[in-house]
Amino acid sequence: MQKDFTGRLLHWNETENTRKMPWKGEKDPYKIWLSEIILQQTRVEQGLAYYERFIAAFPSIRDLALAADEQVFKLWEGLGYYSRCRNLLATARFIAFERNGIFPNSYEDILALKGVGPYTAAAIASFAYDQPFAVLDGNVFRVISRFFGISTPIDSSDGKNMYAQLANSLLDFDRPGAYNQAIMDFGAVICKPQLPLCEGCIQAVECQAFRHKWFGMLPVKSKSLVRKTRFLNFFILSYKGGFYVRQRTANDIWKDLFEWVLLESDAALTANDAAMREKLAVLFPGWRGRVLQVSAPQKQQLTHQNIEGIFTRVELEFPLPPDTGYQLLPADTLRQLAFPRFITRYLEKNPL
Ligand code: ADE
Repeated sequence: MQKDFTGRLLHWNETENTRKMPWKGEKDPYKIWLSEIILQQTRVEQGLAYYERFIAAFPSIRDLALAADEQVFKLWEGLGYYSRCRNLLATARFIAFERNGIFPNSYEDILALKGVGPYTAAAIASFAYDQPFAVLDGNVFRVISRFFGISTPIDSSDGKNMYAQLANSLLDFDRPGAYNQAIMDFGAVICKPQLPLCEGCIQAVECQAFRHKWFGMLPVKSKSLVRKTRFLNFFILSYKGGFYVRQRTANDIWKDLFEWVLLESDAALTANDAAMREKLAVLFPGWRGRVLQVSAPQKQQLTHQNIEGIFTRVELEFPLPPDTGYQLLPADTLRQLAFPRFITRYLEKNPL
């Protein structure tokens, strides 16, 4: 059964797989690594343009290693999960300056890089060096669970072991790179999460989910995410043409990104002038100025949190006291800094 699955998959790959992506067939480990880090939590369609911009700005790992943090964060802006960006820079510098620019070529050394887990290490080892490590990502879990009719949760320890073993037993040892790319493409194009293309699917002859009409139920996850909601009052404070911002430093969402003056609330937000004037007074008693605009509540869903926020624009009569942690910067300078998507989305509709 395993051999037939693999044979059919590779046949499909050679005859029917028309999916094109710039990193496909790439052998430069730097480019493969970059594409895989971008794709860790980002859809291919969204990641493509970022990949192209990164490669244009930094054709080699040394170029990336020598870049200023701000430039790299600015290029990453909008992709989210900025720990990926921090690890990207740390790893580029480690390879450029401590390994003489030579990308590691053993699975263990690749896995030891910051930001690289088993999935990414297997992808790099197989794509760049044709080493026999099977990738196990969301696509592969889905394809395998459906084909074999496995209902063990993919996030249980039993499940993880079982899937890892099965994934390795399916791997084509002569062409691990082609096989890994093929199973991901197959999951993305044919064995899709919703409405898989079972009619005409090359695997349907032996697919348990197809036979029993289970595809809507597989794969199974044991945990469903509980998201807590956070309420953020952002104040866009201007004084003499400049704006107050600070860089987030805590180990929290949006670490290292810039933001406006922020007051977090425990409860749902009230979007009106008086309420916002009072909130600002919590931070800066005695502030004086004009409220120019209060936005409606804006929402964003992150993996573990729901964000709800209001943006209030205020023109100050006096500058903020010193040592608030916020700095007054001209609008031109702000454009060089990376802000969370939550803020840039607001700014796209409401330019400064
Ligand atoms: N997702 C993560 N890596 C991928 C790749 N190499 N091709 C397609 N989708 C992916």
